Amino acid sequence: MTAAGRLLVDIHTHVYLPRYASLLRKRTSVPLIRSATTREGTTEERLLILDHEPSGGRPVGAQYWDREEKLKFMDRHGIDVSVVSTANPWLDFLPAPQAHSLASELNNDLEEYCASSPDATAQGYSIKRLYGFGLLPLVPEISTSALLEIVQQISELPHLRGLIMGTRGIGKGLDDEALDPVWAAIEKAGLVIFLHPHYGVDGKAWGDKDNGHVLPLALGFPFETTIAATRLILSGVFDRFPTLRLLLAHSGGALPALSSRLASCIDHDPVVASRLKHDARYYLGRLYLDAVAYGPEELGFVSDTIARSERYISGSSVSPAPDRSSGSKRMLFGTDHPFFPPLSSTEKWKSVVENLESIDAVQGWSQADKDGVRGKNAMELFKLRE
Ligand code: URA
Ligand code: ZN
Repeated sequence: MTAAGRLLVDIHTHVYLPRYASLLRKRTSVPLIRSATTREGTTEERLLILDHEPSGGRPVGAQYWDREEKLKFMDRHGIDVSVVSTANPWLDFLPAPQAHSLASELNNDLEEYCASSPDATAQGYSIKRLYGFGLLPLVPEISTSALLEIVQQISELPHLRGLIMGTRGIGKGLDDEALDPVWAAIEKAGLVIFLHPHYGVDGKAWGDKDNGHVLPLALGFPFETTIAATRLILSGVFDRFPTLRLLLAHSGGALPALSSRLASCIDHDPVVASRLKHDARYYLGRLYLDAVAYGPEELGFVSDTIARSERYISGSSVSPAPDRSSGSKRMLFGTDHPFFPPLSSTEKWKSVVENLESIDAVQGWSQADKDGVRGKNAMELFKLRE
């Protein structure tokens, strides 16, 4: 049993719930799951979720939908609690009425998946091993009232503590003012938004060599998140909804590295210069970022860019020295399970071990900071106590 302050909590971990997987199996256009014959003559299922899916898609199996497999994976890696989210592309491809009804059904399914999970017994806590991010039917033509109804549903399901969303909004991106009532409702309900990529960037940028999934995953995914989060900042969403809690996948992509350049471009742009209440770098400190970066230097750097936020409050004369330790308070461990399985069988997944070792090796993070990133920050952000 892990002591309460030392729980390992995975906040970036996915599932295709059985109801969703069976929908994908019935489909003939992407996204879909199809049966394929392997070179060895056996049958396997393959997942195709991108329009120009590299390498004939990816093999999928029970890891993607079976809760027992999720729990076994957690046990193998010492993960006490997971906050599970439906994997991409969520409901993005469905007509509005179907997206709406399926969101409601899948949210109930996920609540049951979590509520009936074993207890994670820890000193002073009585919690489950599984919690979840619900789904919003963010598709074109959906009515605001349908979206608000689902936010309300999620907020009433006790084991759902947030919602996952892609970057398209209801068709025009997340900086669409039509989403303001949705941000307001999410903020009021205290739900955490997990912003996750799916589309990457224009695939033409990748050329015609078969590089498998490397370019879309290593670069396309984080660039997509970078663009979406930047557009949100530029639209003033964080000025209008200052207590909105937004968690960015993959440590915010390139946003931390580009944030001073972004601030400078804003300062020199007559259209945008006076639009925001604060310097762009301030808003990084309002975000939460997962610690799925695979390297200690990256984690340390990202925490620096969060920590310096306070220096950029407009009109503030205080200029505290940026303190990496305070930046760590907004970073949270994740695995991206069941994606990135090891290519050959190993006891532990390299993708998980690397992220854990990275947290341990960040220069300037104290033991308490590391415990925070591994679990305590998640316990607080998602109010994981009952
Ligand atoms: N990680 C995800 O969350 N989705 C993918 O499609 C691939 C990796
Ligand atoms: Zn993911």
